Amino acid sequence: MAKIILAASGKGGAGKSTVSALLGEALASKKHKTLIIELDSGLRSLDVALGVTENIVFDLGDIIRGSCDMKDALAPCPFCEGLSLIPAAAKPAVITAGAINDISSALGEEYEYIILDCPAGIGEALENAAKCADLALVVATPDPSSVRGARSAGALLANCGVKNRRLVIERCPQKAKKLSPINNLDEIIDGAELQLIGVIWEDPLTRSAMDSGAPLSYESPNYQTFRNLSERICGKNIPLGFK
Ligand SMILES: Nc1ncnc2c1ncn2[C@@H]1O[C@H](COP(=O)(O)OP(=O)(O)O)[C@@H](O)[C@H]1O
Ligand SMILES: [Mg+2]
Repeated sequence: MAKIILAASGKGGAGKSTVSALLGEALASKKHKTLIIELDSGLRSLDVALGVTENIVFDLGDIIRGSCDMKDALAPCPFCEGLSLIPAAAKPAVITAGAINDISSALGEEYEYIILDCPAGIGEALENAAKCADLALVVATPDPSSVRGARSAGALLANCGVKNRRLVIERCPQKAKKLSPINNLDEIIDGAELQLIGVIWEDPLTRSAMDSGAPLSYESPNYQTFRNLSERICGKNIPLGFK
């Protein structure tokens, strides 16, 4: 059965979709077949990042309404073998835990990892996704409000019984001294009350990969960062190490 990883945050714009897409690419590039399910109904964005916009016929909403075969809503990423997307419902829709479970049971033999890209916030959508998750990645930027949001999301996930909860710090300035107003990573980790699993650098190449539907450039400092994150998730002991 596939391992289900959820990407959550308290505040919007923290980098959940970026982490979902680039972690998915990194896992698939190591031959771990990965499916990303975009739960952000009405706010689809990963189709652009994964270059599948033109190929979408059905989406998560169609699966839930039973108006398509589950496999017909899978959009394979053209530049990353072994990575597919179920795009978000075009219109707002309630995605129940039962619906997520049905999809992961039906497709879980085919994929090694299923990443749930959650909507921002600590509402029902996150609770439903949490009921299905083996691991939650809580994404926060260094901003105090984002860190506080991560703490709230982490607490909700704990209440929902998600035992494995980890912090991903997104958009970290490449020069750590620019981390102000939170001065160092320890403060972010303490503020979020979560164990750190990865630090993603603020980087224009990362943004352009998300905007252009192309793979992340080898030149990006995050290229190796996401490969390391994927290996940690696969259970390898890769030190966090910063430069
Ligand atoms: N490491 C990064 N460096 C530069 N820009 C980033 C980085 N991560 C995310 N972004 C940009 O920040 C914005 C919000 O990211 P996104 O992943 O869509 O957040 P969320 O899914 O949490 O709302 C997007 O425009 C994205 O391209
Ligand atoms: Mg998003």
